[in-house]
Amino acid sequence: MNDRPAQETAPGALASRGGRPVRDAFLPISIPWIGEREKQLVLESLESGWITTGPKSLELGKRIAAIAGAKHAVAVNSATGALHLALEALGVGPGDEVITSTWTFAATVNVIEHVRATPVLVDVEPDTLNLDPKLVERALSPRTRVVLTVDYGGQPCDYDALDALLEGRGVDLVDDAAHALGAAYRGRPVGSLARVTAFSFYATKNLSTGEGGAAVTDDAGLAERIQLLSLHGMSRDAWKRYADTGSWFYEVVAPGWKYNLSDVLAAIGLGQLDRFAEFQARRRQLVERMRAGLASVPEVRVPIERPGLVHAWHLFPIALELERLTIDRAAFIRELRAENIGTSVHFIPIHRHPHFRDSLRLRPEQFPVAEDAYARAITLPLFPRMSDRDADDVVEAVAKIARAHRR
Ligand SMILES: Cc1ncc(COP(=O)(O)O)c(C=O)c1O
Repeated sequence: MNDRPAQETAPGALASRGGRPVRDAFLPISIPWIGEREKQLVLESLESGWITTGPKSLELGKRIAAIAGAKHAVAVNSATGALHLALEALGVGPGDEVITSTWTFAATVNVIEHVRATPVLVDVEPDTLNLDPKLVERALSPRTRVVLTVDYGGQPCDYDALDALLEGRGVDLVDDAAHALGAAYRGRPVGSLARVTAFSFYATKNLSTGEGGAAVTDDAGLAERIQLLSLHGMSRDAWKRYADTGSWFYEVVAPGWKYNLSDVLAAIGLGQLDRFAEFQARRRQLVERMRAGLASVPEVRVPIERPGLVHAWHLFPIALELERLTIDRAAFIRELRAENIGTSVHFIPIHRHPHFRDSLRLRPEQFPVAEDAYARAITLPLFPRMSDRDADDVVEAVAKIARAHRR
């Protein structure tokens, strides 16, 4: 029950002005769904005595590879780690350029800096906010080694256009699919579209281990290199050395990192995998419900799904039609908060962060599509445990605020 004192406000008044909020309990943008199976598998891992990288991490990798249509997978502690190791394993380094999107999380660009290569940022397509292949073409140079795609919100990029562009140029595609496990492009799963693909199992992601990720590839040599670099550069299967089949002997053959995934976390992922198809179907249902509900609110634009794709629907980002509103995005977010609806913004474009802006000498005018999208973007709640009622509350809150601030 709402325990606010009764106010002298009109029915339907904004909560920010003393009216009753659309809902009494706060709805966050995402809550992981941890079931009995996850708890059972975690307990099994804890009781087995094997709580670091081991059989469960290996199994998680294999099952992720199967979903992603790839031959090999290495489970690691994050998508960031997977992307970093993908670039390392491909030998990307100083003097090389990596083309990527400004519409992404810092991790995508940080890893390019970790290998001391040069990030080359380009703008996005207005409807999907994915890399614009025409702009990628303009950004190509003799130094380009990798195009690092970002499947924003779970929607695959235009891989046919990118493949056609890169054919015969010796430029590799690496896919930041942090949002896109379960997505597909023209019948090909995300994970089979790039030389290496990175997935994230962070707390809010479609499949969650709290923290975690995987790198998948069809290339056995790359997979082996990624595996090796994920654990101090120790020779193969070093993690087995405390098992009865293991040996005390190992050799360090490269200065690797400590990006391996604990079996306790992998256990959560294995439990989640049993319900992954169900999670994805529920996301789609919720998206359809919210899209239908918001169709009659002309002050907002809902996210699109291009034909021929399977969208993973990690995010539900709307765009405000600012021309029809008397308030800006920040005020709209404050109003949603007062109505007890959580939000986020995906993303603050890379070129707006002081580090990248200054070190790469980026100006907003170089990214007109991302600039326009940034002023309008609000990510609304979307997670499989949301009820139909929750989804209706989101729609109602957006409609209420739009109505109150209509121009
Ligand atoms: C597009 C994108 N790439 C990479 C990452 C990093 O993922 P992780 O936290 O698993 O390293 C994120 C995280 O949210 C992301 O949104």
